[in-house]
Amino acid sequence: MKHFLQLSDLTTDELNSIIDRGIELKAQHKAGTSKKTLKRKVLGMIFEKSSTRTRVSFEAGMAQLGGHAIFLSSNDTQMGRGEPVEDTARVISSMVDIIMVRTFNHAMLEAFARNSSVPVINALTDDFHPCQLLADMQTFREHRGSIQGKTVTWVGDGNNMCQSYINAARIWDFHLKIACPEGYEPTRSMLLENSDRVDIVRDPIEAVKGASLVVTDTWASMGQEEEKRKRQQIFASYKVTEELMTFANDDALFMHCLPAYRGMEISETMLDAKSSVVWDEAENRLHSQKALMEYLVNQA
Ligand code: CP
Ligand code: NVA
Repeated sequence: MKHFLQLSDLTTDELNSIIDRGIELKAQHKAGTSKKTLKRKVLGMIFEKSSTRTRVSFEAGMAQLGGHAIFLSSNDTQMGRGEPVEDTARVISSMVDIIMVRTFNHAMLEAFARNSSVPVINALTDDFHPCQLLADMQTFREHRGSIQGKTVTWVGDGNNMCQSYINAARIWDFHLKIACPEGYEPTRSMLLENSDRVDIVRDPIEAVKGASLVVTDTWASMGQEEEKRKRQQIFASYKVTEELMTFANDDALFMHCLPAYRGMEISETMLDAKSSVVWDEAENRLHSQKALMEYLVNQA
């Protein structure tokens, strides 16, 4: 049984077929011709961190395909009172058809998946956010076609999103340049394993040169609230602005997984700049995850 804890849990062909299906499901949804392909299926959604897009996209997606979703916050379940993750996984997976988990520690998610009898989806950990990459790759495809051989520039923190971009660079065969301050890189092992396609370029202007896609994210992720002020100083020169975008390719796109902090990692107006596709990117969470759930629920 396949889980989706990291992009590399599925093959490039599987991921591309999920993106194709996401594009198809989006068209069907807009035409009002969606089919109830997940009728009577139940999704368990475990949230140990906040969410807007992830919760709404999974819950609405399940409803659109005829299934049902159960929202479980760690504050209101026995997980928050110390019931072991192994026991929780065994019990919940005996009652539902698929589970998504948003949590801090990636090892906790892996333990959950080992003890689950149904497919488990990573809905963000401290280390990875693979669902967001499905939406981002669908969005790039819709606007610009294949990303193979292109240059993508990540500006900002070497966080969970950045690390998922490293995995994406290998899967979709693109070159990733990461502009981050010293001490805020992705893990050493990920950089070493992917040194053939990932480069650290400290200067954001140098880093965006030749880029077809520029991506950023908050400077302080969930769980790093106490470092916020310190990070604002350290990351001050890593802001994505319309001016920075002029150094990228003429047709470069801008993405941000959101939530965004205007005036911090982006200029006040960046989300609505000509290059920005952030609203399509957010909307595509809905359709790419419907395709992902169909794929995982129906696997042989
Ligand atoms: N991009 C993303 O995962 O957003 P939420 O935290 O709102 O789910
Ligand atoms: N890097 C951010 C992404 C939020 C969707 C975080 O982990 O908070």
